[in-house]
Amino acid sequence: MNVLIIGSGGREHALAWKLRQSQYTDKIFVAPGNAGTAQIATNVDIAVTDFEALAKFATDFNVMMVVVGPEVPLVAGIHDYFLSHDYLKNILVVGPSKEGAQLEGSKDFSKQFMQKYQIPTARYQTFTEADFEQALEYLKGHSYPVVLKADGLAAGKGVVIAQTFEEASYHLDGMLHLGRFGNAGSKVVIEEYLQGIELSAFILTDGKEYVLLPEAKDYKRIGEADAGLNTGGMGAVSPVPFADASFMQKVEERVVKPTLHGLQTENISYTGFLFIGLMNVNGDPYVIEYNVRLGDPETEAILPRIKTDLFELFRALHDGDLGNIKLEIDSKTATTIMLVAGGYPDEYEKGHVISGLEQLTDVVAFHAGTSLNEQGDVLSNGGRVIALTALGDSMAEALAAVNAAAEKVIWKDRYYRRDIGFDLK
Ligand code: AMP
Ligand code: GLY
Repeated sequence: MNVLIIGSGGREHALAWKLRQSQYTDKIFVAPGNAGTAQIATNVDIAVTDFEALAKFATDFNVMMVVVGPEVPLVAGIHDYFLSHDYLKNILVVGPSKEGAQLEGSKDFSKQFMQKYQIPTARYQTFTEADFEQALEYLKGHSYPVVLKADGLAAGKGVVIAQTFEEASYHLDGMLHLGRFGNAGSKVVIEEYLQGIELSAFILTDGKEYVLLPEAKDYKRIGEADAGLNTGGMGAVSPVPFADASFMQKVEERVVKPTLHGLQTENISYTGFLFIGLMNVNGDPYVIEYNVRLGDPETEAILPRIKTDLFELFRALHDGDLGNIKLEIDSKTATTIMLVAGGYPDEYEKGHVISGLEQLTDVVAFHAGTSLNEQGDVLSNGGRVIALTALGDSMAEALAAVNAAAEKVIWKDRYYRRDIGFDLK
């Protein structure tokens, strides 16, 4: 069967890599893809939100399955687009409906949903420009730190943790009055700060049945010891030692099952991945956010641990058969380091030739922001450039392997964190 993967990051390269291993996949296309996906699949130069062109390509090239990597096309309704055209209806889309994607597309929607279905999360209130004065009053009476979240998609930048009232009111003003996050910030969720350690949990679900995928811990800050600016993610570890069977059972009972119950009660169709960003607060899981897709770089750490054929999982998803799947997971630890352009997440350069990739053994290199020049050199083409993943019998072994590999992959000003996993050892 021919498959079209939508997106261009390390996550999509990992999806293509895993689907390539299936005996059921024939041609794999990635739109738009990167230099890594070009090595194992065929890149197609179509933007992730150009539904018409994607649909035309899918029919012209006999694509039977579309796997959507990033949130933007999901929130814009790519699944609904395919369902609303007769000639596209038989194509299996992995990714929720527009309504389901609101779990990520609107923080206010997801907070209301969690409150309604009693899913543990931080206490909150939502404000718009019209209630700016009430929002200020609310902030005056709030404990600190406090968390402000732009309601809509803001490419991971819409969250501010403010230490003081002055800081919080400055950001509130920026979001509600100055349009700092455009339309995404026209509503602001103000919520209680949760103290704990974060992890990412994932399920694949048809809205009723689900399989729990391996969890991962992601390292979001640019600097070592979790200092500095937030990024898309600088590395990941899976499994997460503190997410033991008892903790994950709490996640399933208190979060996953009530979430699916809520989706069913609200009649929201959901066929795809659900990423649950959790805070472990003294052994209890609290939901920080839902994402309606896999995480990046978490995908690069969890897919190498899944032994089950991913295509078969997707087929079971569409056949209503997920309940009969027993996921096979490698007990090894996967560690991922993201190599990034110097300067990221602020300004950075692109277009530098990357060397050392051919020397790598025992690690997988998932490309993120890369491209090829006419000579076939791999060039840096984004902030996050290459994710390296190693598996080991212990976290220490996996970390030693991935750190050794990271040293070998070089371009001008490349940077990476040498302390991934530091808090889990
Ligand atoms: P989000 O975009 O919702 O993932 O938020 C970005 C980051 O802000 C999260 O990964 C957390 O580190 C932090 N964060 C969000 N909400 C809270 C909260 N209620 N308490 C503490 N930290 C939070
Ligand atoms: N690594 C976090 C995310 O994909 O949102």
